[in-house]
Amino acid sequence: MKPGCDVLVKGWVRTKRGNKEIAFIALNDGSTVKNLQIVVDKNEESENILSRISTGACISVSGSLVESVGSGQAVEVHADKVEVLGECDPMRFPLQKKDTSFEYLRTVAHMRPRTNTFGAVFRLRSQMAFAIHEYFHSRGFVYLNTPLITASDCEGAGQMFQVTTLDLNNVPKNKKGQPDFSKDFFGKQTSLTVSGQLEGELGATALGEIYTFGPTFRAENSNTPRHLAEFWMIEPEMAFYDINDNMDLAEDFIKHLVKYALDNCWDDVKFLSDRYDPELIERLQGVVNTEFVRLEYSEGISILEKAIADGVQFEYPVYWGVDLQSEHERYLVEKHFGKPVILTGYPKDIKAFYMKQNEDGKTVRAMDVLFPKIGEIIGGSEREASLQKLEERIDELQMSRKNLEWYIDTRRFGSCPHSGFGLGFERLLLFVTGMQNIRDVIPFPRTPKNAEY
Ligand code: 4AD
Ligand code: MG
Repeated sequence: MKPGCDVLVKGWVRTKRGNKEIAFIALNDGSTVKNLQIVVDKNEESENILSRISTGACISVSGSLVESVGSGQAVEVHADKVEVLGECDPMRFPLQKKDTSFEYLRTVAHMRPRTNTFGAVFRLRSQMAFAIHEYFHSRGFVYLNTPLITASDCEGAGQMFQVTTLDLNNVPKNKKGQPDFSKDFFGKQTSLTVSGQLEGELGATALGEIYTFGPTFRAENSNTPRHLAEFWMIEPEMAFYDINDNMDLAEDFIKHLVKYALDNCWDDVKFLSDRYDPELIERLQGVVNTEFVRLEYSEGISILEKAIADGVQFEYPVYWGVDLQSEHERYLVEKHFGKPVILTGYPKDIKAFYMKQNEDGKTVRAMDVLFPKIGEIIGGSEREASLQKLEERIDELQMSRKNLEWYIDTRRFGSCPHSGFGLGFERLLLFVTGMQNIRDVIPFPRTPKNAEY
């Protein structure tokens, strides 16, 4: 829009100031972090309206767009008519200067998205979701919707939320005295999914390349800045990809997304960087312009053991076979290499049953992508394509083969090498926004003891 044209704008008042003759209103409609300056000439009528306008009020303004003489903006609106759509009582306004901490804002559901910070974060979230769909669609991947209610435990870690309509005060029992799930809604025990991968594999072994993008649920009692009980995951799954193809895709994908944020969401990224994290932009550019390190788990352990010998202190122990903690992952990424690391060849005992076993009998073709500030951002693997090995592993882990027959069938009827991974959407957003706590990159966070709204 060029200066000189008539405009109608609606939004929420950020500030109101002025002198005897004119008032300046900073208006924001949520489309950008930048406010629009509204200039109102004072007269009896407008003063009446202005007296009802305070920070937080919702107004509608018609007027003309003009070049601004003031610094800070190129254009402003000279108001002909101002209408108050919704007043905002200044005495009860919940955002007083004294407490605008992120913790506090999580308790003020209606104001949180109206702040500059959360406006920027949620716009970025939306843009990233778009970039993800665009990335896969432009490469011919099929978007596959996998179920949220499931009867299988993909990761085998047993951290699932049960879904039931049984009366908890009067649970029907079977002969053994256990809950009789045949009486439950689905006629069997069901939960919210921890991952769409197993169903995704059925898609990939038919459609070639698929991806899922949806909510996942984990009842792990991890009250950390990187865990949610309800988070979103993107899970591509590709026929005919080996572990190296899988790593190539993961690296290209994540670089594309970070670059997309820099290219398309500059105002919001810049705002977050200026306000909270001066190194954010450098960190983002660093990822785009660097080749990720690819490292065997065993080598990673050696590096960590050497670090300990040199005096570095970790809270958790390090030895071959251990599941790495985020302090270990971050040491490798931030201190040792100074760039993202893709760790492969994990011990099979700390990884899921479906991962392809290596010839050594000890390790699997797993890959975790480790990021600065975040630790693990992606987890994935090449899948075990051999029917015999897969069945043996399921038995070894004493998992129920019966419940997995539908999945094992993919290895019986035209099995193929295939791979995939899962990107935690909120972990990506933590990286891209520079926010410190995963609760602050999702509109309505769910964590242990917390399910507000
Ligand atoms: O490493 P995970 O558990 O892998 C899977 O679920 C595989 N089925 C993925 C696949 O191969 N298709 O989880 C994948 C990613 C993690 O790397 C992390 O980014 C994120 O999901 N994640 C979480 N994000 C937030 N809160 C939690 N509680 C998370 N658990 C995992
Ligand atoms: Mg993982």
